[in-house]
Amino acid sequence: MKIIRNVLTLSAFAVLAFFGSGQSYAESQALMLKPFASLSEESKVCASCHKEKNPSLYNQWGHSKHYGANVGCYECHQANESDVDAIRHENFTISVIVSPKDCSSCHNAEVEEFAKSHHASAGRIIGSLDNMLAEVIEGALTMNGQSPAAVNGCWQCHGSEVKVMANGDLDPTTWPNTGIGRLNPDGSVGACTACHQRHEFSLAQARRPEACGKCHLGPDHPQKEIYEESKHGINFQANVDRLNLNSSKWIVGEDYDAAPTCATCHMSATSELPVTHDVGDRISWTLRPAISEKIDAQAIKAGKETKSWQDRRADMQAVCSACHTSSMIDNFYQQFDSLVELYNDKFARPGKKLMDTLNAQGVMTPVAFDEKIEWTWFYLWHHEGRRARHGAAMMAPDYTQWHGMYEVAERFYMELIPEYNEYIEKAEHDGKTEVAEALKAVLQEILESPEHLWFTGNEPQDVKDARKKAQAEFQSRYANQ
Ligand code: HEC
Ligand code: HEC
Ligand code: HEC
Ligand code: HEC
Ligand code: HEC
Ligand code: HEC
Ligand code: HEC
Ligand code: HEC
Repeated sequence: MKIIRNVLTLSAFAVLAFFGSGQSYAESQALMLKPFASLSEESKVCASCHKEKNPSLYNQWGHSKHYGANVGCYECHQANESDVDAIRHENFTISVIVSPKDCSSCHNAEVEEFAKSHHASAGRIIGSLDNMLAEVIEGALTMNGQSPAAVNGCWQCHGSEVKVMANGDLDPTTWPNTGIGRLNPDGSVGACTACHQRHEFSLAQARRPEACGKCHLGPDHPQKEIYEESKHGINFQANVDRLNLNSSKWIVGEDYDAAPTCATCHMSATSELPVTHDVGDRISWTLRPAISEKIDAQAIKAGKETKSWQDRRADMQAVCSACHTSSMIDNFYQQFDSLVELYNDKFARPGKKLMDTLNAQGVMTPVAFDEKIEWTWFYLWHHEGRRARHGAAMMAPDYTQWHGMYEVAERFYMELIPEYNEYIEKAEHDGKTEVAEALKAVLQEILESPEHLWFTGNEPQDVKDARKKAQAEFQSRYANQ
C-alpha cells in the first residue's frame, strides 16, 4: 500500500506538471515512471523464496525493466483483504490476477486508452452467432456449466469472466486465461498480458507480429498470414535484427526504417503521433460484419461522440508517410476502398437480402445453423469475405484473390443461389405460389443487375464481343511463345 501511494503522488504530480509546463507526452510519461530507490521489503521476501521455487519466473523478472526500477512481486500482486480474489499467502494478502486496474497505478494512460478500445469489449461475445457454435453446436455444457469448446477456444482469445471459488481459488473454467477482453474479479476489463508476456514485459516481444498472431490468424481473420505475405512482412523477416525492437523510444523513420510491424501501423509512435493503446485509433472501416461500414457509423447512429473515420485514416496515413509519398498512399486507399465496396455491393448486400427474404417469407426454421444455406452464408461473409477485405487492407494479393474474392464468388454462384432455388422449388411443390413468386422476384432483381448478368448469359452483346476479342488476343500471345 505504502508503495502504491508513493506512485500515486508521483502520478498526480506528473499530471500537474504536464499541464503546468507544456511538457511533452513522453516527458510526462517518463516522470510518472520514475523508478523506486530500492526494492520494497515485501518484494524482497517474495523474490528470495520464489527464486528457489520458480527460478525461471524469477529470472524473467530479473531481465525486466521493472526489476531495474525496483518494481517487484508485491507491487503488482498485492491485494486488499476485501478484494474478491484476495488470498492469504505467506503472511501477505495477494492476488494471482494482475488486472489492468493493478497496472494502472503506474501506467494509467495505457490503461485508459485500452479501456475505450474494441479490445476491451472483446469478452462480450455471449449472444453472438459464433457463440452458439461453441456452446451448442460444437459444444456441451460439461465443464462447470460451460462448454469446453468455449473455455479452450473463444475465451482464450476473447477473454473469460474470471470467477473465484468459495475457497478463494480461481475457477479453472475461467483461469488460466489471457484473453484480450477478460472480465476481471475487480470489475476491470482486459488482460495486459495478452500482449505483454510475463514476467519480462519486454517491448521487443510486444512489437513483434507474433504478439498479435496468437489471435489474429486463421480462416476468419488471417492478419498474421496476410502480413507475412505482404512486402512489409518480407522486409520484417529480412531486417528484423536492424529494427531496434528493444529501444524504449521507437519512432518510425527515426529509430528504425526497414519495415513496419503490426504495432507500427496500429499502435506505435510516429514523429507526429504518440503511442496508442486503442488499436481502432487508426482504422477507418470495420471489416468484420457481413456488410462493412465506416468504423464511426454505429457511434454516429447512437448519437455518441467519436473520432471520425477521416481523422483515424489521417493518423494511419501519418504512419505510412514515414516511408511512402502521399500519392502512393492515396492510391493505395483507393484500391482498398474499391475492393471493400465491390464485396459489399456485389455479394454482401445481395446475399443478405436473399437470407432476409427467406426469413421474411417464413420458409426457414427459426433455428440457426440447422440448414445448409445458413452455413453457406456464414462462410461467405465470416470467412471468405473477411479474408478478401483483410487481404486488401494489408497488401496480400493471394488473400484478396484466391483465399478471398474467388471463394466468395464460388460460394455465391455455386452454393447460395442453388440452395436459394431449392426453397423456391419447395414452395412451388408445396403449392405456396405466392411465396415462390416473392422469392423469385428478389433473386431475379439481383441477377438482372449488370454485375451478375454474366451468370444467366444475358450480358449485352458488345460486352461479350469485347471479352471474346481479349481472349483471342491472349491466346495468340501465348501461342507465339
Ligand atoms: C516462503 C516461500 C514463499 C514466499 C515468501 C512467497 N511465496 Fe508465493 N508461492 C510459494 C509457493 C511454494 C507457491 C506454490 C508454488 C506451486 O504450487 O508450484 C507460491 C505461489 C504463489 C503464487 C500463485 C498462487 C496460486 O494460487 O496460483 C503467487 C501469485 C505468488 N506465490 C506470489 C507471491 C508474492 C507476491 C509473494 C510476496 C508478497 C510471495 N509469493 C511470497 C512460495 C512463497
Ligand atoms: C509488472 C507486474 C508484475 C510483477 C513485477 C510480477 N508479476 Fe507475477 N504476474 C503478473 C501478471 C500480469 C501475471 C498473470 C496473471 C493474470 O493472468 O492476470 C502474473 C502471474 C504470476 C504467477 C502465477 C502464474 C504462473 O505462471 O504460475 C506467479 C506465481 C507470479 N506471478 C509470481 C510473481 C513473483 C514471484 C514475482 C516477483 C519475482 C512477480 N510475480 C512479479 C504481473 C507481475
Ligand atoms: C508500481 C509501479 C508499476 C506497476 C504496478 C507496473 N509497472 Fe510497468 N513499469 C513501471 C516502471 C517504473 C517502468 C519503467 C521502467 C524503466 O523505463 O526503466 C515500467 C515499464 C513497463 C513497460 C516498458 C518496459 C520496457 O522495456 O521499456 C511495460 C510494457 C510495462 N511496464 C507493463 C506493465 C504492465 C502490463 C503492468 C501490469 C501487469 C505493469 N507494468 C505494472 C512501473 C510499474
Ligand atoms: C484465435 C483467436 C480467436 C478465437 C479462438 C475466436 N475468436 Fe472471435 N475474434 C478474434 C479476432 C482476432 C477477432 C477480430 C477480427 C478482426 O478484427 O478482423 C474476432 C472477432 C469476433 C467477433 C466479431 C466482433 C465484432 O466486434 O464484430 C465475434 C462475435 C467473435 N469473434 C466471437 C467468437 C466466438 C463466439 C468464438 C468461439 C466460437 C470466437 N470468436 C473464437 C479472435 C478469436
Ligand atoms: C494489443 C497488444 C497490447 C495490449 C493489450 C497492451 N499493450 Fe502495452 N504495448 C503494446 C506495444 C506494441 C507497445 C510498444 C509501443 C511502442 O512501439 O513503443 C506497448 C507499450 C507499452 C508500454 C511502454 C510505454 C509506451 O507507451 O510505449 C507500457 C507501459 C504498456 N504498454 C502498458 C500496457 C498496459 C498497462 C496494458 C493493459 C491495459 C497494455 N500495455 C496492453 C501492446 C499492447
Ligand atoms: C503497413 C501498415 C499495417 C501493418 C504492418 C498491419 N496493418 Fe492491420 N491494417 C492496416 C490498414 C491500412 C488497415 C485498414 C484500415 C482502415 O480500415 O482504414 C488495417 C486493418 C486491420 C484490422 C481491422 C480488421 C477489421 O476486421 O476491421 C486488424 C484487426 C488488423 N489490421 C490487424 C493487424 C495485425 C494483427 C497485423 C500484423 C500481423 C497488422 N494489422 C499489420 C495497416 C497495417
Ligand atoms: C488475445 C487475443 C488478441 C491479441 C493478442 C490481439 N488482439 Fe486485436 N483483437 C482481438 C479481438 C478478439 C478483436 C475483436 C474485438 C471485438 O470487436 O469485439 C480484436 C480487434 C482488433 C482490431 C480492430 C479494432 C477496432 O476498433 O475495430 C485491431 C486493429 C487489432 N485487434 C489489432 C491488434 C494488434 C495490432 C495486436 C498486436 C499488437 C492485437 N490486436 C493483439 C484479439 C486480440
Ligand atoms: C517503415 C517503412 C514502411 C511503412 C511505415 C509503410 N511501408 Fe509500405 N512498404 C515499405 C516497403 C519497404 C515496401 C516494399 C517496397 C518494394 O516493393 O520495394 C512497401 C510496400 C508497400 C506497398 C506495395 C505493395 C506491393 O506488393 O507492391 C504498398 C501499397 C504499401 N507499402 C502501402 C503502405 C501503407 C498504406 C502504409 C501505411 C498504412 C505503409 N505502406 C507503411 C515500407 C513501409
